[in-house]
Amino acid sequence: MAGRDGGGERVVDEDGTGKLAVLTSGGDAPGMNAALRAVVRRAIYAGRTVYGYRRGFAGILKERPLLLRLSSVADIIKSGGTILRSGRFPAMAEAAVPERVATALRQHGVSGLVVIGGDGSMQGALALARLGVAVVGIPASIDNDIDGTDHSIGFDTAVNVAMEAMDRIRDTASAHDRVFVIEVMGRRCGAIALAAGLASGAEAILVPELPVDYEAVVRRLRQSRARGKRHSLIVVAEGAVSGQAAREEIAARTGYDVKLTILGHLQRGGSPTAVDRMWASRMGAAAVEWLLAGQGGVMAAARGDRVAAIPLSAVHGGRRPDLGLEQLAAMLAI
Ligand code: F6P
Repeated sequence: MAGRDGGGERVVDEDGTGKLAVLTSGGDAPGMNAALRAVVRRAIYAGRTVYGYRRGFAGILKERPLLLRLSSVADIIKSGGTILRSGRFPAMAEAAVPERVATALRQHGVSGLVVIGGDGSMQGALALARLGVAVVGIPASIDNDIDGTDHSIGFDTAVNVAMEAMDRIRDTASAHDRVFVIEVMGRRCGAIALAAGLASGAEAILVPELPVDYEAVVRRLRQSRARGKRHSLIVVAEGAVSGQAAREEIAARTGYDVKLTILGHLQRGGSPTAVDRMWASRMGAAAVEWLLAGQGGVMAAARGDRVAAIPLSAVHGGRRPDLGLEQLAAMLAI
């Protein structure tokens, strides 16, 4: 039996048909395990055999798939990380590599693949779909930067982690009349910064999608001091500017006591929120149902309150977050 660590007995069926497989790829996101559980349980409910590849796409080339049983995914709905491990595999963007992956899948007798991961993983899934592999993508990234879906698994958890951290920081900031710069994740996308910043009452939010405007930040800080407010939170997405650079610049321009907290990978761990578990469960089940109905080449997208199948070929580049949240946060923080 495959254990919770993904280790244990490795089995490849001999009949060569009808098997589903699943993998997790890219940066891990809380809720990946809940999605895995849904894929495995929905497939077994339908009487199908399901396998897992470890460490993302690279695992297809390097390892034999693991048979996943009901018990393999027991109790993981509440766990962060991924029992299958994850990995980035940029070689999927090279022409020859997806061919080798598709060949390995055929050799393992896999007739349908579920890829749980971020933007790059959806591109890898598309490359396989173009080679005739029946593949369904499930969007999972704390950054919520995947085009075509309102929600990526892990985003809600990461925002809540950042918000809780900022609530704590606000306590100590107010006790010492300090400004805090809080650096959150988001190399290319400011979605976490925007959501967590608005939810925690930040005075300013710096994101990669907008030019860094220190003058505006300083103006807001001075205005709020003039009104008697003596502590402030500034949220910085790592891709906008480094938190350290922002701290130094704001301190130099104002002379205020400015501290820095970098939340980093803290945001990627921990038990997924109910929102992430719900999407993960619904998307995982839908992915299996589509594969069983002969539909591949799609991603399970959150559209309003529905899970919709959208073509992987329509998932182009990054998703643009709602930049209006930055203005709203500023307005409400007066
Ligand atoms: O998962 C997305 C993300 O968290 C980005 O926001 C971040 O820049 C990146 O992954 C860092 O990932 P790692 O350090 O694990 O490569």
